[in-house]
Amino acid sequence: MAYENVRTEVRDGLLVLTIDRPKVLNALNAATMEEIYEVFAAARSDEKVKAVIVTGGGDKAFVAGADIGELAQKTPTTGKETSERGQFILSFIERFPKPVIAAINGFALGGGCELALACHIRIASEKAQLGLPEVTLGIIPGYGGTQRMARLLGKGKALELICTGDRIGAAEAERIGLVNKVVPADQLMATAEEMARKIMSRGPLAVRAAIEAVMSGSDMPSAEGQFLEATLFGLLCASEDTKEGMKAFLEKRPANFRGK
Ligand code: COA
Repeated sequence: MAYENVRTEVRDGLLVLTIDRPKVLNALNAATMEEIYEVFAAARSDEKVKAVIVTGGGDKAFVAGADIGELAQKTPTTGKETSERGQFILSFIERFPKPVIAAINGFALGGGCELALACHIRIASEKAQLGLPEVTLGIIPGYGGTQRMARLLGKGKALELICTGDRIGAAEAERIGLVNKVVPADQLMATAEEMARKIMSRGPLAVRAAIEAVMSGSDMPSAEGQFLEATLFGLLCASEDTKEGMKAFLEKRPANFRGK
């Protein structure tokens, strides 16, 4: 499949999706959002893809936000539609059944920060700057950022970042839990790949269930989330992988998971 605004590469089961409009710091116009969706939709049922890394093209930006040229044209109706479509696409990523890691190589602002928030794990280069500057443009985050940031950081910190529109550096982002880890720029992709491959070596059905339990469960009251957890736990007990994982431990050898 040929894309205009993104690049994809699959290597040994790992899909690297690069948002690639470096002249506008990889800003997300509507066409780019649709291409991102197409990549994830195809990868969902592609057995060759076991994990995804999302990053930005060029050396300045992960994604510097929604495309402000397009946003400037929105009416109340098209603005709502744009927000709903963006929410749908980022929720699709959040609920993706295989691990998704954001490798944040520079500016992750507005929709770029929201894209990173929808990924399961965030690794940032020391050069990264993150923020939700929408209020500086007279709007609010519209791709789920108000909800995901508040759930990740708590309401107080989220409101501070959303209402000031301030950008923060990678070290501060790590301190408040907005990113999982910060590494030198030249180690970013290797670190993201190392983490992806570690997760890929675990039982894929278990990883899928873990993502579902955490992501779906966090939208539920605790008792319902724990019911979901127990149900997924029980389902895994019927899998060949679970038997293999336990047997391998008892036989003191690495497990050979087959996703069955
Ligand atoms: N949408 C559209 N174009 C964007 C963009 C966006 N979100 N972010 C950057 N660009 C464009 C700039 O207009 C500029 O285009 P030009 O070369 O035709 O003038 C190009 O990308 C480079 O950006 P520039 O502002 O010159 O780079 P900088 O290093 O001086 O500043 C930023 C970098 C990220 C601080 C600045 O680009 C910025 O504030 N961008 C907008 C961030 C934002 O508000 N995002 C939320 C949108 S909802």
